[in-house]
Amino acid sequence: MGVSPGFRTHRHRKAGVNALRLIGFIFVKGLLSLMAAMEKIVSLCKRRGFLFQSSEIYGGLQGFWDYGPLGVELKRNLKDAWWRDMCSGHNEMVQPAGAPSTFDMVGLDSTIIMHPQIWKCSGHYDMFHDYMVDCRESKKRYRHDQVRGRWVSHPDATAAAKIFVTTMAEADEEQAEIQHRALKYFKLRPKDAESLVYDGPSTTLDTVDEFSIVLGPDAKTLGTLTEPREFNLMFKTTIGALGGEEDYAFLRPETAQGIFVNFKNVLDSSRISVPFGIAQVGKSFRNEITPRNFTFRSREFEQMEIEFFCHPNSSQDWYRYWRDRRLAWYQTLGLSRESLLMREHAAEELAHYSVGTADIEYAFPFLPKGEYGELEGIAHRGDFDLRSHMEGKLDPSTRPMVVELDELGKPRHRGSGRDLTYRDDITGERFTPHVIEPSAGADRGALAFLCEAYHEDEAPDENGKLQTRVVMKLHPRLAPIKAAVFPLVKKDGMPELAQEIYAELKRDLAVFYDEKGAVGRRYRRQDEAGTPYCITVDTESLTTKTVTIRDRDTLEQTRVKIDELAAELKRRISS
Ligand code: GAP
Repeated sequence: MGVSPGFRTHRHRKAGVNALRLIGFIFVKGLLSLMAAMEKIVSLCKRRGFLFQSSEIYGGLQGFWDYGPLGVELKRNLKDAWWRDMCSGHNEMVQPAGAPSTFDMVGLDSTIIMHPQIWKCSGHYDMFHDYMVDCRESKKRYRHDQVRGRWVSHPDATAAAKIFVTTMAEADEEQAEIQHRALKYFKLRPKDAESLVYDGPSTTLDTVDEFSIVLGPDAKTLGTLTEPREFNLMFKTTIGALGGEEDYAFLRPETAQGIFVNFKNVLDSSRISVPFGIAQVGKSFRNEITPRNFTFRSREFEQMEIEFFCHPNSSQDWYRYWRDRRLAWYQTLGLSRESLLMREHAAEELAHYSVGTADIEYAFPFLPKGEYGELEGIAHRGDFDLRSHMEGKLDPSTRPMVVELDELGKPRHRGSGRDLTYRDDITGERFTPHVIEPSAGADRGALAFLCEAYHEDEAPDENGKLQTRVVMKLHPRLAPIKAAVFPLVKKDGMPELAQEIYAELKRDLAVFYDEKGAVGRRYRRQDEAGTPYCITVDTESLTTKTVTIRDRDTLEQTRVKIDELAAELKRRISS
């Protein structure tokens, strides 16, 4: 969600995943253990060129990821699908099902570095922080809400009776690591594990008040963790050659502010009227204290954001419309309803200005069963942003909100002074529009689709023998390669015809040509890449001018005329 004390508190408490444990939730890939599934996905991503650790040959850079040849296509397809479905494909003359009225949609591409005052008025400068704790012994730094632990005691202990033993281990190793550390602390042997007494289940460090009896994640002695301190997540940079204090700027931590500060420009330059949305896709940067879980929490990532401007009276209806529409969008591209959770924020979790916020969450395989991680937030932001950029940063504790003042009674952070109100041409009414913000992460989206797509099943090889295959069941719209073209064998004119077909298809579609090795192995490679269709040129093709299309998921082979192939593929991809 956008920044505010409410936002940070929410983030802080939530630790990026919803700790709500839904009893009875059926994990869709029950056959695979959680971490084993994730390890397989990570390994496939590297092996097949979806994702690489950034700067790998120099040892890597934590929190930064590169997309390989397949990954870049997947992420681009995801962003294109979002742009097409939300923005460029929108018909402003038709009222979509569930929408309160017709509406306009336009796009924007604003800069990553913007005037520093923007971040002061938006609240990011003062409030965009996480809480961190430092360990005096190990010299390591941790995010307060990501350190987990358990209260443990031992009847024979002479020192502290009950201590909080912490760890940063992944979910499936957490208990083993806590036990190991507790045994070590109490100077016990593994066979004494039964004598440890646990008080309650594992919980996060932010539930603990007494730090003197905490055993830090990498410490040998108690009480080495400092009290939590704020840590601003914005990356600082300097503009120009002088590099003085006044030249500081920030890499944007969200694309949203670029939209708010262009509200008037867009309105004045396009023939649109409220209600309308401005869509933007682009990089954002956050100096996360503990980036983790593959690309889930990165320091550089991409967002797909809409700021939707509407009349205050209809804003609740628009909020519900966008919340439901965004959930449905993930399902149309292949995420199953069981692995998605729509989580409405409780009143105390809401940002001060917000009357409603919902997160769309996904059951990522690296999370314990029943936990979900945020894919997208849909927030009702009221008039907070436009007013802050007009009048100056608003005081979150006031209601209705007024501009925050400094010791001299002047605005703490001055707004632009520009009029960002809207005048309705028909009614003549002037008002500050309310904003609904569906804010999605392209990297988290790509990761969720990769996780959902990963399957292991059995398929017959060229001798008809069943073999285990890894298949990425990506939606055809998202698949990096839409179709692969193979000559059955490398002779008898088959390669020539296959290359002709390949050249023709390549004009419009991302296709791949392969003539090396047994055809069964070529199929397997495409299954792993998520290619939905394989086209084979065989002996019959030469006489009947037909080819077979093999469906990745059903393994069904259908014969189609070469003349009709492109149209057939397009029909299948878009359906
Ligand atoms: N303008 C509102 C905003 O930025 P957010 O919940 O902080 O709200 C929106 O971020 C989305 O951006 C998240 O739901 C997530 O998909 C993505 N995101 C946020 N931080 C991220 C990170 N460190 N790494 C990857 N994606 C992130």
